[in-house]
Amino acid sequence: MAQRETWTSRIGFIFAAVGSAVGLGNIWSFPFQTAANGGAAFLVVYLLAVFLIGFPTMMVEFVIGRRGEQNPVAAFGKLGYGNWSFAGGLGVLSTLVTLSFYSVVGGWVLSYIVGSATGAYFGDAGAYFGSVASGPTAIAAHGIFMLVTIGIVASGVTDGIERATKFMIPAILVLLVALGAWATTLDGASAGYSYYLSPDFSVIANNFGSIVPPAMGQAFFTLSLGFSVMIAYSSYLGRDDSLPADGGAIVVVNTMVALLAGFVVFPLLFATGGAEGAGGGAGTAFIAIAGAFGQLPAGGAIGFVFFAVLLFAALSSSISLLEVPVSYVTENYGYSRSTTAVAMGLGIALIGVPATFGTSWLGFYNDVVFKLLLPISVFLLAVFVGWVADTEAVDELGRGSTIGESFTTAWLWWVRVVVPLAVVVTLYLGIDALYT
Ligand code: PFF
Ligand code: NA
Repeated sequence: MAQRETWTSRIGFIFAAVGSAVGLGNIWSFPFQTAANGGAAFLVVYLLAVFLIGFPTMMVEFVIGRRGEQNPVAAFGKLGYGNWSFAGGLGVLSTLVTLSFYSVVGGWVLSYIVGSATGAYFGDAGAYFGSVASGPTAIAAHGIFMLVTIGIVASGVTDGIERATKFMIPAILVLLVALGAWATTLDGASAGYSYYLSPDFSVIANNFGSIVPPAMGQAFFTLSLGFSVMIAYSSYLGRDDSLPADGGAIVVVNTMVALLAGFVVFPLLFATGGAEGAGGGAGTAFIAIAGAFGQLPAGGAIGFVFFAVLLFAALSSSISLLEVPVSYVTENYGYSRSTTAVAMGLGIALIGVPATFGTSWLGFYNDVVFKLLLPISVFLLAVFVGWVADTEAVDELGRGSTIGESFTTAWLWWVRVVVPLAVVVTLYLGIDALYT
């Protein structure tokens, strides 16, 4: 077998992993989840979920990946626990389903870039969404988005993924800061900030059961956890990098991007109305944002930049979703990377076609991933690392880092008890409080 590729540098890995993490989840879902769940109250619970549960879970995937040095299925065998391969396989399955609808939304973003340039959504934002989010336009845009994703993954880990994310991530950061600065000038800015940033703790107390499941789901999704992506990416990582330091950087940058997106979206929404109508799921987010741009001076140009940022974010994530099944197939069956990327990408695109029929289909795909595959997968990985491969995991976490034994021990117990418990509570609460 050919020599496995590795990242050219530690920073290359961080860019790629940040690229996977930063996506539609940060810029599109996060502000709207926040709006749908009581504003700042949701933000507080979400941040706790990211740092207390998400970060330790990222270390779980990192230790499996770097120790295994294989795709997320074979990694378990290399660790000596081949009968746990199904846990990695579940992640691969999640990437297939997720990419199939992620790419559909990526296609919408393409249409909104076009719409910003032509002004097509300025008159009636709702009608524009209707015309691009389903039917032939949606299918075509979905196909184009997938082709670009295939092109990057086919070019390889360093020439494709690393190179693309090294360009896209800085662009996202710079442009979002610029958009945030612009948003301060809007009439609704202060109302937007206060909705976003002053939590009403009674809202948390009274709605705990309905806030925790989406906050937790969003925390895992935004960090690309439970999909075997971080197992795959860390398998290309050098032995002497510090996993907690790299993971910390990834979590912090991902959180910064989400927060920044809120600093753009909330002033925007309050400049032209309010956040009330914006929390209603997939389509309303696009309609609300585009509707606001359509009413503001220079809205087309600024909308163009906003949707370009969204496109970079979506692409840097979709390539990670395709990389997982591609690395599995190339390593297991010996097909070339480019053939596999084309075949799998097109196959996944086909699975996504029903999601172009309407947002209820899209919601169904989303539910399968959020409510079922993702929590089960995180639960299994935490149990595996915490109770089965614990010795190897602790050793791997300490490798290349200066963290002490007390940190690794605390992490181990956290992964053994708190992470699985948090997932179970989330699943339980999520049964009646349906994620929208
Ligand atoms: N983290 C991405 C986002 O926030 O949009 C979505 C994602 C990418 C989830 C890759 C899972 C994944 F494996
Ligand atoms: Na994210």
